[in-house]
Amino acid sequence: MWHVGDDQTQHLSSLNEKQGMSTNKERIELLRKMREKTLLGGGEERIRRQHEKGKMTARERLELLLDKGSFREIDAYVQHRTHDFGLEKNRPLGDGVVTGYGAINGRLVYVFSQDFTVFGGSLSKTHAEKIVKIMEMAMKNGAPVIGLNDSGGARIQEGVVSLGGYADIFLRNTLASGVIPQISLIMGPCAGGAVYSPAITDFIIMVDKTSYMFITGPEVVKTVTHEDVTFEELGGAYTHARKSGVAHFVAKSEEDALFLAQQLLTYIPQNNLEDPPYVPPTDDPMRQDKELDDIIPDNPNKPYDMKEVIRRVVDDGIFFEVHEHFAQNILVGFARLGGRSVGVIAQQPLVLAGVLDIGASTKAARFVRFCDAFNIPLVVFEDVPGFMPGTAQEHGGIILHGAKLLYAFSEATVPKITVITRKAYGGAYDVMNSRHIRADLVFAWPSAEIAVMGPDGAVKIIYRRQLAAAEDPEAEKARLVEEYRQKFANPYVAASWGFVDDVIFPHETRPRLINALDMLQNKRDTNPWKKHGNIPL
Ligand code: HXC
Repeated sequence: MWHVGDDQTQHLSSLNEKQGMSTNKERIELLRKMREKTLLGGGEERIRRQHEKGKMTARERLELLLDKGSFREIDAYVQHRTHDFGLEKNRPLGDGVVTGYGAINGRLVYVFSQDFTVFGGSLSKTHAEKIVKIMEMAMKNGAPVIGLNDSGGARIQEGVVSLGGYADIFLRNTLASGVIPQISLIMGPCAGGAVYSPAITDFIIMVDKTSYMFITGPEVVKTVTHEDVTFEELGGAYTHARKSGVAHFVAKSEEDALFLAQQLLTYIPQNNLEDPPYVPPTDDPMRQDKELDDIIPDNPNKPYDMKEVIRRVVDDGIFFEVHEHFAQNILVGFARLGGRSVGVIAQQPLVLAGVLDIGASTKAARFVRFCDAFNIPLVVFEDVPGFMPGTAQEHGGIILHGAKLLYAFSEATVPKITVITRKAYGGAYDVMNSRHIRADLVFAWPSAEIAVMGPDGAVKIIYRRQLAAAEDPEAEKARLVEEYRQKFANPYVAASWGFVDDVIFPHETRPRLINALDMLQNKRDTNPWKKHGNIPL
């Protein structure tokens, strides 16, 4: 039985009465009217309210996101099947989500866009079925899914049926993970278990001020933990970008969010069997940069900006940073080298001296795994003094979280290149894409210092007795530190073992990396067969 809304019921019953009598013209007229109706969502009044909040409608968003005229809608006539709470009298066409496919820069994408003007974009069984349908099409046809989320959560009137709909989506998100890219834009509320669909996807873009994500809202928080917290503090865009790391990008506006999604896709292949798009470079692949020779300060404890190093090396100085506001002691993001998309992972000496801590490890591990799943080569710029000491880190599980990064680099089979710009100390040396865990090439700048620990710490341990017995312990320590520095604080010991493949001039980093990527373009490497590994979660 096909349930239809009041208006449509009238249209159809009048058509049925005339069975055999209706003309083709009438049928076409009916289609025209129905099409018009699908465009209205929850009606003009609710569209006005949506605009008043500074938000676009589901369709306006799609229009901006997709290439002009490319959107093809699917399931515009779907209606919910609920019979309770008076909902049977209101069955808007489309049921609160606009789904279909289109193109971004000429490349196929599948989309769903929740329509807040229809029952607050809440998710019914049929709403979920529409999303599941396009996700399955996307997987079959190997193209990304972009979800525009703006929803009051589970359709309360439907109860468990709606919860089942969510789970159907979560399963598809999981099955699609690593097969096709999945991008979530949060453009309004996203609460309760609904947050788990975006969380499984590869990237989350939140719009500042108008979007929020949380498991339970401020009222429930107050009841349970007696905390007073605003929507924004609890789950606004900057909260998730800076504190939780849930959001990868913060957009100033909805337009900005849609633009970010378009940009992001330019670095990413359509699916896990393709290579990322190649963009013929306008920046000379042989370009050298003399400024890089002076970028490392003489004092090894002085910071410098690793973003500047990256920008000076990559095509046109464009570094598309991911997770910009989270764990800023490590940098991750996309760039191009000689036209090829690469994933860049780098310490940022300007923040906590570039130390590896829990946040930095999980941030980088997730990024490495994304790149590896989608055939994007990894380029690492390393200046790491080690792992962060302290009870907060130890009790927070730095052992487990640091291991994630180690695991991610170790299992990655894409081309992997490391440039050690300065410090590579301790376990962090091993973790940061060392040759031992299958880096294809490790370059070091002449300023590289590769050892078990920094000279100060090393001297205190290995010369403890000698220092205690010295006449002038400070002078003796300074002498021993200098001796240690001379011996280990350079790249040549590691190079003599073959752990560093070449010591390069900083100014030649760009051509050397591009040349290396050329050399590695047909790289094949595999891991032993397994159902899946057991990454330390
Ligand atoms: C049905 C809903 C709805 C929902 C909103 N509406 N949420 N209808 N189910 N979950 C309807 C409203 O009745 C209203 O209808 C219209 O959408 C707009 O809602 P407003 O409240 O007027 O909008 P606003 O003031 O902007 O507030 C938005 C809101 C609020 C903060 C999202 O609507 C809200 O708190 N909704 C309930 C959120 C919630 O508790 N959801 C369940 C979460 S649990 P009319 O006809 O008046 O326009 C969950 C579990 C998922 O989702 C688990 C998955 C495993």
